[in-house]
Formats: sequence, C-alpha cells, structure tokens
Amino acid sequence: MITLAHITDPHLPLAGVRFGELFSKRVLGWLSWRLNRRHLHRPEALARIVADAQAHDPRVIAVTGDVLNISAAAEYAQGAAWLRRLAGADGLAFVPGNHDFYIDRAATRDGKARLTTAHGGAVPEWPWARAVGNVALIGLDSTHAAPWGESSGAVGAPQLERLAHLLRDCRAKGLCRVVLLHHPPRPGMTKPGKALRDADALEAVVRAAGAELILYGHLHRWRHETLDTASGVAHILSAPSASMRPDAGSAAAGWQMIAIGRRQGRWFFDVPRRALAADGETMRTIETLRLNSERPA
Ligand SMILES: [Fe+2]
Ligand SMILES: [Fe+2]
Repeated sequence: MITLAHITDPHLPLAGVRFGELFSKRVLGWLSWRLNRRHLHRPEALARIVADAQAHDPRVIAVTGDVLNISAAAEYAQGAAWLRRLAGADGLAFVPGNHDFYIDRAATRDGKARLTTAHGGAVPEWPWARAVGNVALIGLDSTHAAPWGESSGAVGAPQLERLAHLLRDCRAKGLCRVVLLHHPPRPGMTKPGKALRDADALEAVVRAAGAELILYGHLHRWRHETLDTASGVAHILSAPSASMRPDAGSAAAGWQMIAIGRRQGRWFFDVPRRALAADGETMRTIETLRLNSERPA
C-alpha cells in the first residue's frame, strides 16, 4: 500500500513584490490579491491543511501547482521554502500552475525550475516520472505564456509524445500510473480562457496508453470524473485550494489522501477527502471514495 497526499493551489500570501514587477500583466493579479484574494486564501487555513496531511504520514505529498500568485521574485523564494518544509526530497512531487508562471520571462522560467527543484538536483525533463514502490508518479508542466485575462494552459506536442511513451513503459513494468498536472485534463471541464488548450490531445493519449489516476487543481473544487482507456478506467480527481477559508462561499480548504493497493490484478484506491470545518480549526473527512481501475461491466 502506497499513500499519497494531494494538496493543491495553496496560493501563499503575496508579499515582497517590487514596484517594477507590476509593469506587466502582473498588475491585474496584484490588484486581485489586494482587493479580494488575500481575504480568501488564508495562511491559517493552509497551516491546518498541511498539519493534517503531515499527521497522516503519507509516503509522498503531491502538490499540483499554484503555490504562488503573480510569480514575483520574492514569491519563488517563499514558495521553494514552503515546499521544502512540506516534505523531504523523496516525499515531495510538484508540478507548476498558471500562477507559478504568471508571465513568461527568463526570471519566471528560472523561478518555475526553482520550485520544481526545491530540494535541489537537476531540472527534470517534462514530463518527469518517478517510481515509488509499485506506483509511478508522472508530472506534466501545463503552464504556458497565457495572454492577459487568461489562466489557460497547454502541455504541447513534445510532452504528449514523451507522456505516451512513459505511460506504456510504466504499464509494461506493472506500475500504477498517477499523472499530475495543474489544469483539468479533459475538454469541456472549464471555460476556454481557463482550460488546457490541448486537452483533447492529452485525452487521446491517455485513452490510448492508459493511466490509473490523474490528479489536478486549478478549479479549487472537489471533483471526480472517469475516463475509459485502453487499459481500464482512469480516475480524475481534484481538490479545493488548500488555503481557502471555510466561510467564503467556495469549497473550504481541503486535501485528499489516496491509498493505493493492488488485489487480483486490479488497482484499488481509497480516497478520504479532508476539509476544514466552519470553525476554521477542525479537520474532518467529508467523504471517502472507494475506487478501482476496472471498467464497469
Ligand atoms: Fe489556483
Ligand atoms: Fe490555476
């Protein structure tokens, strides 16, 4: 049994922005933070989520992006330090979100790499793959140079080609394939300006090569969908922002534990979903999904 904790969209408090950094699309994100988002994404809520996830002692903590807000230089330092505190080098898996690559600059490309290698080491080729016991974690970078007013993403043909190869290779090795990315992986899961532009191509790769789990963020909601693939059913799961205060009208801060086991040639997933209660202190299990990789008859 391998246990993963899935935490997404922590949106750490925005501080230390240099004035010169705001002469760009960042000014919109900065205004949004000052006027609205800083009241919604609260460090005390995030601290409860992190403590609860760590108390469950998962083998790996997977973070599916949006650690930052506007990709300012100071945010990368804060974000990398937060990731290092979250889990040790072999217990952390990170993929970036649109807020971790808010604009395309040399500094944000370096910053994204800095988050990805928070514990040191070489910048991986995307998608990276890592085996943890009989589970293969496969991380995609879905960030791109999104235009003003968009939080869209794109994976791109080179990543898709490598993904198809990795999925087949990991299946041949008998591994459970867990794909991590920030954006919703299927077409039509959100509005176009927020969506993965090549979701149809990604879906085609997953259908053909198969995957067991896809974990994503971006929507700040609990979701569970399935996709029929050549090798069975892929379960597609997301969780709310890990810092969302519970009384703001959106899904309260939460995270999900994914316990992965194998019995009689099938993969099983027990997924307790933990959320912050209205008191802002108590953590509770709001539901437990019991899933497997077999296609329904
Ligand atoms: Fe987000
Ligand atoms: Fe996002």
